[in-house]
Amino acid sequence: MAIQLSTEPPRTPDAVKALWDTIPFAEGRDPEAVMRCLLGSNLVVTAWDGEHLVGTTRVTTDGVYYATLWDVIVHPDHQRRGIGTALVRRAVAPFLGRGFSYIALFSVAGGEAFYERLGFVRHPSGLRLTESS
Ligand SMILES: CC(C)(COP(=O)(O)OP(=O)(O)OC[C@H]1O[C@@H](n2cnc3c(N)ncnc32)[C@H](O)[C@@H]1OP(=O)(O)O)[C@@H](O)C(=O)NCCC(=O)NCCS
Repeated sequence: MAIQLSTEPPRTPDAVKALWDTIPFAEGRDPEAVMRCLLGSNLVVTAWDGEHLVGTTRVTTDGVYYATLWDVIVHPDHQRRGIGTALVRRAVAPFLGRGFSYIALFSVAGGEAFYERLGFVRHPSGLRLTESS
């Protein structure tokens, strides 16, 4: 079955949580918090194999200068079929050609090549603050 992309925000967190629980960095998130983060995103792109959610990404943006991608996640059983590429292309499309300074993301260590194929370049001075740092 062909993979379908959607930009309809999920109405419940259940399928998203089940998908995210398959990936270490997104595992174990509270369903209510998942729902709030989906509602707080400016764009949510999902990939569907029939009724099965197999991929997500989401974007937060100020609508003028910057947009940031989060949670680019494809179910392990569906990886290397072009779904991640399609999700990222769909997520960045609304922000291209509109004078944004840049579209940003954090890659997992070792995952940079996936984004470089899509035109992203490594930033030499990225920093982040987390409560555990
Ligand atoms: C990274 C991820 C989103 C890629 O999604 P995908 O649907 O498997 O990717 P695609 O099929 O579109 O891959 C296209 C190309 O990107 C490259 N690529 C894909 N995954 C890669 C990875 N983990 N590392 C390096 N390159 C990768 C390959 O060149 C691939 O082409 P090929 O299959 O012909 O070799 C997916 O592997 C995933 O969800 N991983 C776990 C979560 C994660 O790490 N997300 C990224 C957070 S920053």
